[in-house]
Order: sequence, then structure tokens, then C-alpha cells
Amino acid sequence: MARHIQLIFFSAAWALLLWAQCVSTLRFTRGDFPDGFAFGAGTAAYQYEGAAAEGGRSPSIWDTYTHSDRNMYGETGDIASDGYHKCKQDVKLMRDIGLEAYRFTISWSRLIPGGRGAVNPKGLQFYNNLINDLVKEGIQINAVLYHMDLPQILEDEYGGWISPKIIEDFTAYANVCFHEFGDRVAHWTTMLEPNALAQGGYDNGGLPPNHCSYPFGSNCTVGNSTIEPYLFVHHSLLAHASTVSLYRQKYKAAQKGIIGLNLYTMWLYPFTDCKIDIEATERAKTFLYGWILHPLVFGDYPETMRKIAGFRLPSFSSYESELVTHAFDFIGLNHYTSSYTSNRPDTIEGRLQDFTADLATLFRGTKDATPSAKILPGKMVDPHGLELTLEYFQDKYGNLTFYIQENGYGGSDGTLNDLERIDYLTKYIAGILKAIRNGADVRGYSVWSFMDQYEIFGGFKTHYGLVAVDFDTEEQRRQPRRSAHWYSDFLKNNAVIELECDFTTKISHSQI
Ligand SMILES: *[C@@H]1O[C@H](CO)[C@@H](O)[C@H](O)[C@H]1NC(C)=O
Ligand SMILES: *[C@@H]1O[C@H](CO)[C@@H](O)[C@H](O)[C@H]1NC(C)=O
Ligand SMILES: *[C@@H]1O[C@H](CO)[C@@H](O)[C@H](O)[C@H]1NC(C)=O
Repeated sequence: MARHIQLIFFSAAWALLLWAQCVSTLRFTRGDFPDGFAFGAGTAAYQYEGAAAEGGRSPSIWDTYTHSDRNMYGETGDIASDGYHKCKQDVKLMRDIGLEAYRFTISWSRLIPGGRGAVNPKGLQFYNNLINDLVKEGIQINAVLYHMDLPQILEDEYGGWISPKIIEDFTAYANVCFHEFGDRVAHWTTMLEPNALAQGGYDNGGLPPNHCSYPFGSNCTVGNSTIEPYLFVHHSLLAHASTVSLYRQKYKAAQKGIIGLNLYTMWLYPFTDCKIDIEATERAKTFLYGWILHPLVFGDYPETMRKIAGFRLPSFSSYESELVTHAFDFIGLNHYTSSYTSNRPDTIEGRLQDFTADLATLFRGTKDATPSAKILPGKMVDPHGLELTLEYFQDKYGNLTFYIQENGYGGSDGTLNDLERIDYLTKYIAGILKAIRNGADVRGYSVWSFMDQYEIFGGFKTHYGLVAVDFDTEEQRRQPRRSAHWYSDFLKNNAVIELECDFTTKISHSQI
């Protein structure tokens, strides 16, 4: 998933960054990162593969959404980047760029079109071929089991994630993946961004499966915004934990992989120094991050959430609590930007409203979530925000292991000479190095995205790729952008990166 970074803010961002105080020079190379740290890039199945109705794949809730009149961009992932047919050449491109790791997601409905039961041999073959090609090139394999693409048939049958039945079906799907691919997969991530999908999928209804209820969203045919976001996350946590337990009992010893869960994160600054905004910011962090991390570390939801959401927040039985506690080897973070938070004194009961905090840029792709959005553009490229996020987690949950699984820059012009992207990536990579030197346990970094694909917000008009894709031609020609050459130089030639004034002036790279 990718979002938020808006070109129009950049001139203002520059002004602010240049104006900010000069601290010190930061000079580093790839070799300054700890042993075992891997740099890569990522894609997601629906956004990259295309071939939506080919090779035995059945529709997911994402297909249903893009083919409905709710789809605000009028484009679909039917063909996407045509990765289903082109992944062999794409893996060669990864090798040429020098990617050390590839993060991709598996399409449940391609592998098991009925949602449960029979495995689709063509789906199996597709992922086996991809994984074998990656192995051949020595690229570390980071596979994700779920990203907003539940088989539609399970949504129809029992309401998908809002039913506890999902736990068994998800675990069985994961079992197939571990059994078939696990001998070659280094990292498993069960699910991307459950905290964000709760908002889009079940609160304002802007994302699949488009559940909502008045007054939190309109035009939803099903849903209940006051309770379903909590059910979705509850069942996500239980499905995740059940899957981790399975992996640990049956596969880990032989396959030697690690398994974790992913969170959508952004650093939140209080909009003013007023107590009421500072408190709103803390509440927002609890509702966005504590919602997932508190159960995973301590076995239950945060007290603040229980107090505010009451019975609408489900409870864990003692068995479930035990299952969830420590059910991860790492936490994956998707991180793009920071935001300001102000108090919003609502009285209606909805999840976002529960923390009565107005997150200025959160879920900006949907219209209604942030009626009184306030954005200070100077913080949009804010690597320090990622450092603060990691410090916050350390503070609240101890020294966890993190992988940055998405970070990147989206522009609306698809230029090959993408200096803004290079600038963005440089700063965030430098921020991660600083965080590591300050004691954060970060072990990998994945650019979003490896190549242009169908984007959740913006369709084909938003470009995040290191590699450009010409969507207007049938052959969908791939062309590495300048950022791909820059990344390659950093990874393969150990090129020196210099931030002359610690994030505050323009970078000077060698050889780009
Ligand atoms: C709801 O649907 C109507 C008719 O299709 C459309 O005009 C309107 O923009 C939709 N509202 C939202 C919030 O999607
Ligand atoms: C949502 O569920 C709650 C709790 O069961 C109920 O009180 C409320 O009426 C429901 N709202 C809608 C819109 O169905
Ligand atoms: C966290 O753990 C990592 C890896 O074990 C270690 O390098 C780092 O110093 C620890 N950080 C703190 C603050 O204890």
C-alpha cells in the first residue's frame, strides 16, 4: 500500500528543511549497516500480477471493489504490471539492480480459489517458479500471506474477517504456503497493515470489502462502523497467532524462517502544545499501534482502548491471550510520512471517533475521514519521524526486531529522472542507520515499490517504482529510473552517501 506523499508540498518542504538548523554531516555506505541487514524492494499480488481471471484464480474482495461503481479511479488490477507473465524477466531486473531481498504477497485466491480446500496447480506453479528464480539469483525471499485480497467466496459465505471462521481458513491457507514454499522463504509476514485496513475496510468503507454504516461512510450495503473495525482486528490477531503457532510447531525447526506481522505507521506530532492535543496524539498512537502491539507483547488490548470502546472491543479468552502473546519474531513496518494530530471532540461512536483525534493525513485517500484536516507540509519527508516511531515502540514494548517493509515516494509524473525519490530514500535510509546506532533493532529495508503498479490511491497515475512501467503499451516495457541506478550504486558499489548537513541540505552522491 502506498500513499500520502504529495508533490505539491515539496517546495514548501524544502524551504522548511533548509531553514532548519544544521546539525552535522552524515556519511555512510551500505557497509555501515549491520551484518545480515538486507535491502530490497517490494510488490503486492493484486497490484503487480494482473492475470486476474487467468490460471484458475478466483476473484478477491479487491477485484469486487475495483469492478464496482465505488472505485473512484475507474482502473483495476486486471492486468496491473502483468507480473504473472513477466516475473521471470523482472527477477533478472532485480538481480541487475542488485536487490538483496524481494518482498511480495501471495494471492490467496490464486493459490486456493475456493478459499479453502483444493490447491490450484497453476497458482502453485506460478509461485514456485518465482521463488525458484529468486533462489537462483540469491535474492532473499520475504513472502506476505495477506494484503486486502480475501477470496470473495469467503466474504460471501460468512462475512470474511468479521467472522471467527476466518481463523481456521486463514491458518489452513498459511499451512499450504509453509508446506509448499517454506523451504525457500526466509521471512513470512502474515498480514499487511491490519490497523489501516480496519479503517478503510470497516470504518469509512473506502477500501475493500467496503463495509461501513452511517454516519461514518455512505453507500455501503453492509457494515457496522462502531463494531466491525474491532472485530476485524481481533480476528486478524487470532488468525495471525494461530498461523505463527502452526509455523513454530510444524515448520520452523526444519525451514529456519522467521514470522511476523506488519503495521502501517506514521509518526504523530501534536498539532499544538495544548494538553488536549498532546493527549489526543497519545490516544491516536494507542489506537493505531497499541491496538496490535499491546496484545502481541502483553496479551491484551490497552486499558485506554478498553475504557473508551467498552464492550465493542472484543475480549481474549485466557487461551487466546496466551496464543497471541509473543506470537511474532519481528514486526514489519510500512512507513511513509508523519502527521499532525489534534483533538476532535466528537460524540458519535466509531473507531476513528473513539480516539477523538483528527489525524491530518491518515487515510487521505478517503474523503470523510479527516473533515478538518490540517497539514503542515514541512514534515512530509520526515525521516526523524521514523526514528521517533522506533523509539516509541522501544519505550512501550521493549527491544523488538523490526523490518521496514515499505517506504517510498509516489509521484504523479512518471519521470525517469526521479531526483525527489532518490532524495526521499536517501534520507529515510540515513534515518534508519541513525536509529540502529541509537539501539533500534532494524534488520531490513524494502523500498515501495520495485516497479510501478496499480496503486490503491491513484491507480496507474501514481508512480512509486524504482522501475518505470509503460502501461500504455501492450508489452509494458520496464525501464529502471535514475533511483534504480542510484540504489544499485549504493548496494553493489558501496557508494558513499553524504548528507552534508544531516538531512538539512541537498545530498551529494557519487556516480549518479
Ligand atoms: C454514493 O453514490 C452516489 C451514486 O452512485 C454517488 O453520486 C456518491 O458520490 C457516492 N458517495 C460516496 C461518498 O461515495
Ligand atoms: C452496530 O452494532 C451495535 C452493537 O451490536 C448496535 O447497537 C448498532 O445498532 C449497530 N449499528 C448498525 C448501524 O447496525
Ligand atoms: C536491541 O537489540 C539489539 C539486537 O540484539 C541490540 O543490538 C541493541 O543494542 C538493543 N538495543 C537496546 C536499546 O537495548
